Amino acid sequence: MNPEFWQNRWQENRIGFNQSDVNPLLIKYWSSLNVPTGSRVFVPLCGKSIDMVWLATQGYDVVGVELVESAAQAFFAEQNIVPTVCQHSEHLAIKCYQGKLEDNGRTITLWVADIFALTAEDIGNVSAVYDKAALIALPANMRPDYSEQIRKMSGNAPQFIITLNYDQNKKNGPPFSVSGEQVQQYYGSHYQVTELASKPASIGSMPELTVVEQIWMLGH
Ligand SMILES: C[S@@+](CC[C@H](N)C(=O)[O-])C[C@H]1O[C@@H](n2cnc3c(N)ncnc32)[C@H](O)[C@@H]1O
Repeated sequence: MNPEFWQNRWQENRIGFNQSDVNPLLIKYWSSLNVPTGSRVFVPLCGKSIDMVWLATQGYDVVGVELVESAAQAFFAEQNIVPTVCQHSEHLAIKCYQGKLEDNGRTITLWVADIFALTAEDIGNVSAVYDKAALIALPANMRPDYSEQIRKMSGNAPQFIITLNYDQNKKNGPPFSVSGEQVQQYYGSHYQVTELASKPASIGSMPELTVVEQIWMLGH
């Protein structure tokens, strides 16, 4: 998946991954992670996910990273938040959009960048990672580097990961199928990997495909 692939998806509004409701699994299982309120949650490959608003309403600051600028702009426009736009101190082409939730003043910061272009210093201290449709957005050959990058950026913070599992021979990704063994392979030597729940799911473009959605807690 090169950047043009995602730029085109956003430009052509082919963003079936974007949900209008907060992910019910996030609401149901987030508390399992015991993330202290008032701390900051990292959302890699965040798109314009409304889940970030839910996290902010729970009392967290949120820092997301998204390749496509129009997604960050759309996020704030849809939330009726006028963001301030800042620039990376070294890489001047990299911008971040920042705004506050009106209800509780929690900050949402969205970096517009390739996830591999940023560092732990850029995103600041985070106490957890929320990975929804991020690991599964990437082909298998990118996932080892991605998982390493997320660990480095977050300082090994606990993670909440939502994956899809289906027969990869029946469909090309994204979203890609990621099995429990693969989650273990990417993260098992640094975290204790626990499956919190799984449920039948579907992929819009292939409703007949058997798909299981799984939630993983990565802790210590
Ligand atoms: C499948 S979507 C999921 C978006 C969001 N997490 C959600 O659930 O709605 C993956 C997102 O990652 C972004 N993306 C893909 N590769 C990226 C990269 N290398 N760095 C940052 N963002 C990336 C895409 O533009 C896209 O918005």
